[in-house]
Amino acid sequence: DRRIKIAPSILSADFADFGREIRAIEEQGADWVHVDVMDGHFVPNLTFGPPAVKAFRPHVSTVMDVHLMIAPVDPYIDAFAEAGADIITAHVEAGPHIHRTLQAIRATGARAGVALNPGTPAEAVAHVLDLVDLVCVMTVNPGFGGQSFLDMTGKIRALRTMIGDRPVHIEVDGGVTPETAPLVARAGADALVAGSAVFKGGSVAKAGVYGENIRAI
Ligand code: DX5
Ligand code: ZN
Repeated sequence: DRRIKIAPSILSADFADFGREIRAIEEQGADWVHVDVMDGHFVPNLTFGPPAVKAFRPHVSTVMDVHLMIAPVDPYIDAFAEAGADIITAHVEAGPHIHRTLQAIRATGARAGVALNPGTPAEAVAHVLDLVDLVCVMTVNPGFGGQSFLDMTGKIRALRTMIGDRPVHIEVDGGVTPETAPLVARAGADALVAGSAVFKGGSVAKAGVYGENIRAI
């Protein structure tokens, strides 16, 4: 029973063939499917909205982990929940009322996550740890796949202590590779997002590569 969850980010998948890409990573060992939602405002890039997430849903048989890099976020929570997100993660920096946002996510029945940008201290989530199932520590400035890892191991350790015995995952997102994964796992992370490290060298046609890449992490 593997403790650490691997969550490939389909931001690095073939955008013309999401259904097959999702099935390939799940067949080859993905625990969760990570979906990066970007609005061109909170982050300088655009990706998918609720209709795309709804279209992914029938292809996901594990857990659809939806990372919202959007501001404002509250007006879209119900739509992402209805689209079938299992985990909905909002950024603590995306609005003034993270407590309200997390309550709204929980009210949909989805699991709730809170994400922290690299410049945001662990203490920013100290008072919402009873409202979350997951804290996502960004190890790149969000917006793009394929960036290099920023060392946030001190923040991960601080969060592990703050979380104590609550059943809360610490997810790490950005620049996760076979080299950086052991560092964050040792610091206390138990869910690892990996985009370029999983899909690199891959294509749906030779999806066996994804399994090798997942196992290497
Ligand atoms: C970054 C996204 C990440 C990204 C990770 O803004 O939140 O999930 O896809 O990609 P890699 O693993 O390539 O850094
Ligand atoms: Zn992400």
